[in-house]
Amino acid sequence: MTAVEEAATQPVRVNLVFNERAVRVPYGVTLFDAASWNGIAIDSTCGGHGTCKKCRIKIAADPPAPTSLDIRAYTPQEIKDGWRLACRALATRDTEVEVPPLTTRPKAATVGVGRQVILRPAVQKRYLELAEPTLGDQASDLERVLARLDDLEPRAELAVLTTLGRTLREADYKVTAVVVDDVLIAVEPGDTTGRRFGIAFDLGTTTVVATLLDLSTGTPVAVESTLNKQQPFGADVITRISATMMDPGALDKLRNLAAETLAELAQAVCAQGGVQPQEVYEVAVAGNATMTHLVLGIDPEPLGMAPFILSARLYPEVLAADLGLGGVVHQRARAVVFPAFGAYVGGDITAGLLASGMDRDARVRLFVDIGTNCEIVLGNRDWLLATAAPAGPAFEGAAIKCGMRAADGAIEVVTMTPDDLSLKVIGDAEPLGLCGSGLVDAVTGLVRVGLLDSSGRFITEDEARVRAPGLAGRLTRIGKERVFVLHWRGPGHAAEDSIYLSQRDVRELQFAKAAIATGWQILLEEAGLTAADVKQVLLAGSFGSYLSPASAIRIGLVPDVPVPRVVSAGNVAGEGAKMALLSLRERAGGLALLEEVRYVELSDRAGFNDRFVEQLPFPSC
Ligand code: FES
Repeated sequence: MTAVEEAATQPVRVNLVFNERAVRVPYGVTLFDAASWNGIAIDSTCGGHGTCKKCRIKIAADPPAPTSLDIRAYTPQEIKDGWRLACRALATRDTEVEVPPLTTRPKAATVGVGRQVILRPAVQKRYLELAEPTLGDQASDLERVLARLDDLEPRAELAVLTTLGRTLREADYKVTAVVVDDVLIAVEPGDTTGRRFGIAFDLGTTTVVATLLDLSTGTPVAVESTLNKQQPFGADVITRISATMMDPGALDKLRNLAAETLAELAQAVCAQGGVQPQEVYEVAVAGNATMTHLVLGIDPEPLGMAPFILSARLYPEVLAADLGLGGVVHQRARAVVFPAFGAYVGGDITAGLLASGMDRDARVRLFVDIGTNCEIVLGNRDWLLATAAPAGPAFEGAAIKCGMRAADGAIEVVTMTPDDLSLKVIGDAEPLGLCGSGLVDAVTGLVRVGLLDSSGRFITEDEARVRAPGLAGRLTRIGKERVFVLHWRGPGHAAEDSIYLSQRDVRELQFAKAAIATGWQILLEEAGLTAADVKQVLLAGSFGSYLSPASAIRIGLVPDVPVPRVVSAGNVAGEGAKMALLSLRERAGGLALLEEVRYVELSDRAGFNDRFVEQLPFPSC
């Protein structure tokens, strides 16, 4: 059997029990990584490199054959009793593992959706006091450095050699080696081990967020966000892809604008955190497939037309300089670019799933990232199904008459009774418009008080005076269209100047929620489950964070589950990017997701249109 054939016969995951805690991990990872990946700490001072011999574990039943390191670390009796080094033992079958209590406390950080991540960043620093060469010691400068990094076994880049000789001599052979993953990227004079930073980017179509992280402690040092400078090319990915199809120069322009956005943010977080650019050795980027293609300068055209093909799911090695960050972080900083499942389930979703721990939880959970394109993932640690539903621009405010982004002045919460309504406005400002969460709340309220019937039509003025006497006066006409006024501008202003919800706006929301609901219903059917089996619904993305769980359930945007089961997960894409910088194991977990998620295409489903139409009405009271 060839290695490839043999690999194909192996299970994707194996079951492990660490001190009675059951976990499922990818086949073939070390038990040290498997434990660490699940937040279970095993003693270590070398981080899994096989040099400290502290990662003691016991496998009493049918232990694996000892490695040469095990034989050096343990007595023959201990070997017989099943003691092994966790960083050398591989997870190749279901195993029970005993982990002794810790003698040292590993550093950990809480990231993602309540995830405890044990710190093991790719960026490692070692302070070295080297012996000066002599006529009797003719080792080269590089050999001298690498010999002291034998537990990391890095390869060196040519660029390091160009300055190595001078650095060693000027620093009296007291230097710090900077290794990222398996590459020696720099040798710095003196002891700089206390300073190592990374930047996690959430590269959104609308908004880009950067978090500067101290990689030694896992602490966020500074956070900044800004609008994506590609905005003038269109609000959504389709218009930006179209721009590259119509203008041969647009791809370069879009790439440069994305690079400028990232660079500006990198400078801002470094300035805010008091960090020098050359102290940032790695960045991570989580973005949808189109944003990732554009920032890497890859033609996005195949993403925009059937059959919607990615240039690559996994990108080859990328440097921060390839993202236009050359001058604003360390010249040879590395970049982690999150891989995508498909053209419309991108790296932002891979990062989001990593942050939410969907692949490690026994409960069936539903992950919904609501935007112009809505990504939906259903599953647990044994299986994951993903799909993308074209929700349209209703939630971004673009298709809504008085719609706006969730910024100062946007109505984000609407509370309604038959007699009155109250509004909550972002920034406590004069209302300027209605953002996605306010839109969902307003429609939910109107359905609940009965001013909208379940088909989504406003009832007549006469009926309104009976059903909701305190609100009936707000049901009016602007031009030919029936509207519900949420905020009057005050005396002297025309009705047209008010903030209102039109009949057409309600229709836009119905289309969006029907597309999303059809998506998760098809996934539930595919899994042979019903809404009652869903133990948690995670609302992701900036829109999901604002959305009221009760309203989302009320209009049928998410399954009808008890309200506490619907949780706002926040900016999970950015959290996933942070995790990739803080832990190599988590990074590997993100890659493993590519093998574990099965993509379900909605558009070629028989009866999709009928299902969509069935979902248009609002659930009746
Ligand atoms: S973790 Fe140090 S030897 Fe295994």
